[in-house]
Amino acid sequence: MLRRVLLAASASDRIRKIIITAPYTRDVVTRFVAGNTTDDVLATAGRLLADGLLATVDYLGEDTTDPEQAAAVADTYVRLLDAFGEAGLAAGGRAELSVKPTAIGLGLREHGEKTAAGHLARICAAAAAAGTTVTLDMEDHTRVEATLRILAEVRTDFPGLGCVLQSYLRRTEADCAALAVPGSRVRLCKGAYQAPHEVAFGARAEVDRSYARCLRLLMHGGGYPMVATHDPRLIAITAAQAALSGRSPASFEYQMLYGIRPAEQRRLADHGAQVRVYLPYGRDWYGYLVRRLAERPANLAFFLRSLASTR
Ligand code: FDA
Repeated sequence: MLRRVLLAASASDRIRKIIITAPYTRDVVTRFVAGNTTDDVLATAGRLLADGLLATVDYLGEDTTDPEQAAAVADTYVRLLDAFGEAGLAAGGRAELSVKPTAIGLGLREHGEKTAAGHLARICAAAAAAGTTVTLDMEDHTRVEATLRILAEVRTDFPGLGCVLQSYLRRTEADCAALAVPGSRVRLCKGAYQAPHEVAFGARAEVDRSYARCLRLLMHGGGYPMVATHDPRLIAITAAQAALSGRSPASFEYQMLYGIRPAEQRRLADHGAQVRVYLPYGRDWYGYLVRRLAERPANLAFFLRSLASTR
């Protein structure tokens, strides 16, 4: 019911206008989104980096249906990398990029996979020139196979390309085992999309248990784990797994969304951990926020909780 209401809201131009002009909307948006422009995201990333945190920047937008738009998104990422390189923020991977496969063409009616792989290679080349890396976001379960194929293809030339795996999917433990190898960068999250029971765990506890199993595989494997969660229990399990597997703080990182649990981000960094903040920017924030809520109603509580708390 809630999901239907939110999806209707996201599709309605009238509701869109009401929401984007409502008095408190700007406050909510600026809490989660770095702003509209390259200058905005440069300034916010610069502040995070000066504070001893790392950043991964997402240019908002997804589900591109037009080849020209897919190319324009890739162009924007390349220009962004130039700007980050010039500002001295990209070197050593301090600020890297997060890219949604459907934003660069995966969902195109014709040659989507080939188009996305081509644009991604172009972005990875610009990232390498700027001294940083790219991580492929993971979208809904129907995109996983194609996204992993694109990852494998582009990694042959750009081995630093990382990807996201989602613990709510039943297949993910096997994917973690396959990708926990030297040189591989894997961001583990719970998953933010709707998925049927056949492919995904439904109960929160099952998703969490799957996360813990996947985490163990990644932390004991040879790759570079990127632990993307705000969950205190999983953060504590990560520290325990790091101790058990003999990992140094430099050999993995925690990741959280911009605006969510900033005090915890600070606490982890103060204890010597690497903490990367996922930093979305761009004018397409409405879809980012509302579709996230609609895709998985549990996220509504997640965002509302965030508004009420900074811890
Ligand atoms: P969850 O939302 O279940 O929260 C668990 C617990 O964390 C809560 O019970 C509470 O204790 C604590 N907590 C959470 N938020 C809090 C707050 N604001 N204040 C206090 N306590 C709080 N998804 C996807 O499908 N594809 C992707 O590519 C990505 N990419 C991605 C990158 C990064 C860096 C992150 C952090 C997340 C993603 N996600 C994602 C989103 C992810 O799948 C998931 O939906 C959210 O991170 C929420 O899940 P949590 O693991 O934080 O736990």
